[in-house]
Amino acid sequence: MAERGFSPPTSEWFHPPPELVERARIADPEATSARAAADRLAFWEERAETLDWYRKWDNVLDDSEAPFYRWFTGAQTNITLNALDRHLHTARRNQVAFIWEGEPGDQQTFSYWQLSREVNRFANVLRGLGLQKGDRVTIYMGRIPEIVIAMLACAKIGAPHSVVYGGFSEQALADRIQDAQSRVLITQDGAWLRGKIVRLKETVDAALQQSPIVETVVVARRTGQDITMQAGRDYWWHELMASPQAGAEAATAVMDAEDPLFILYTSGTTGKPKGVLHTHGGYQVYTSTTLSWVFDLREEDRWWCAADPGWITGHSYIVYAPLILGATSFLYEGAPGYPAPDRYWRMIAEHGISILYTAPTAIRGLMRYGDDWVKRHDLSSLRLLGSVGEPINPEAWKWYHQVVGGGRCPIMDTWWQTETGGFMITPLPTVPLKPGSATRPFPGIEVDVVDDEGNSCPAGVDGKLVIQSPWPSMLRTVYGDPQRYIDQYWSEFAEQGWYLAGDSARKDEDGYIWVIGRIDDVLLVSGYRLGTAEIESGLVSHAAVAEAAVIGVPDELRGNRVQAYCILVAGAEGDEALVAELKLHVRREVGPIAVPAAIEFVETLPKTRSGKIMRRVLKAEAQGLPLGDLSTLED
Ligand code: PRX
Repeated sequence: MAERGFSPPTSEWFHPPPELVERARIADPEATSARAAADRLAFWEERAETLDWYRKWDNVLDDSEAPFYRWFTGAQTNITLNALDRHLHTARRNQVAFIWEGEPGDQQTFSYWQLSREVNRFANVLRGLGLQKGDRVTIYMGRIPEIVIAMLACAKIGAPHSVVYGGFSEQALADRIQDAQSRVLITQDGAWLRGKIVRLKETVDAALQQSPIVETVVVARRTGQDITMQAGRDYWWHELMASPQAGAEAATAVMDAEDPLFILYTSGTTGKPKGVLHTHGGYQVYTSTTLSWVFDLREEDRWWCAADPGWITGHSYIVYAPLILGATSFLYEGAPGYPAPDRYWRMIAEHGISILYTAPTAIRGLMRYGDDWVKRHDLSSLRLLGSVGEPINPEAWKWYHQVVGGGRCPIMDTWWQTETGGFMITPLPTVPLKPGSATRPFPGIEVDVVDDEGNSCPAGVDGKLVIQSPWPSMLRTVYGDPQRYIDQYWSEFAEQGWYLAGDSARKDEDGYIWVIGRIDDVLLVSGYRLGTAEIESGLVSHAAVAEAAVIGVPDELRGNRVQAYCILVAGAEGDEALVAELKLHVRREVGPIAVPAAIEFVETLPKTRSGKIMRRVLKAEAQGLPLGDLSTLED
């Protein structure tokens, strides 16, 4: 059932260069893991001690209402106390926090001091709009500095942000606004993508017809085309920031460690996306520890996490953790291969990037352009590489390692999820690597691969990936739906109290973990997580479609591509024009990333007697594989 896109595991080893081993922050990961395992809470407490708190905790972990775990209870903090405020009293205030490059080539740089002043101004703007601690704010923006400022300003005043990725459609945006009940929305006129304008404000206008709860829209100007501004509702960012109210000093809200920091929606097996909730205290401890150890981040580094701030990768490793560590990050707007196939490599050379963290789908896409585009740039500044989002196929791993990393940069293949907040299974720079394996759990993290009864699977046998004890940056609940939190993550191994990750995996004889793919009805397309249910309901909302089933089929470039099967209503004509129309319809309903690569019109769908669509049968057929056990098939 698992999505198996690529070659089987290899057992080739790659050893880290001695100079990296010598300077590594964690010289002996195994010893660190053993120490953490011996007293997990003491280990996390020690990590928490590296940060600032207004008040320290009474308890490191409160498990009295498990699986609603609470970390650092009694403590008071604010993630921006650590990400911004504490740097202002040190020499770091003049260090560069962000270097940003827009798609047309414009650049901006923010020192910690400057970033903090911008955040303060915007925090004052938000307070001026009547926002208080606990009020949710939806952010729908592209990769411009304002999205980072907006997120941090929300955190600063204690208003949980809900960032909706700019690639989502009006319907997806409306659903997420509705679920979070946000009264304020922050957006921009448009975003640059491959030389074109993505009209974000237009999408917002359409979404708000369905979500009248939004009272105020703040619009940052980026692309400059004419847009409609609704009087009394829509305000320009730059005008609000220029008002006397937007002073450069702002008090940081004192938050309980367990107060919500953000909601981030992610696709699940059924129904609408889940609002994954993260909090201030545990999240800051875990994300900063993992970034510091896995990428050995130093003051002199230029860190480039090439994700979008709209995804968990961007939340944790563009916005929060690098700032907590006082690092210098690079941020860019646009697409990897535009305006030229060597944009990535040119930016690395120009900005002296020392660590690149990106996704296999981006690597495969860039690989397609050929080695010459890479080789015309001096990439000697690179020290470490990273991968996230889906299993990396050995071919892409080797290209990344050899051609991009010149054979000297180890690849940190980090397995984690929106729900986990930070890296869970990952090498550290000193760990010998095998291409395609995320190696072992991070110190303090307990995982296993188990069968349906919860027995540990022997080496080489596929099973379910579980996390066996709580960790500080775990999701706290599904926003507004605690029962779903229990059902989705904690019910399958309720007796053991394990978290079900929803992935299948296998251990090898060295104890390395190989993540295979999702076991549920979630697709990873270009590293984006899509629920089959979301796409299916998008299709069915079209008047011509009576029923739909969606599967993922392996794709060289994207990992998986979406394939759809539709039963049409009587009288509808299943022709090419309808295929095109349905694609457009899904684009509008769900978003461009969800558009099926192929749509087939069928008379029936394989179902169980209880009426569940057997996607595995469709999948096997699509790939010309044996159909497997059909005993539960209805017809
Ligand atoms: O299936 C795993 C895959 O991405 C899923 C999580 O998706 P999302 O919540 O969108 O977060 C992505 C970025 C953290 C996982 O359940 N996945 C993520 N990283 C890897 C991976 N699969 C294999 N190897 C990885 N390194």
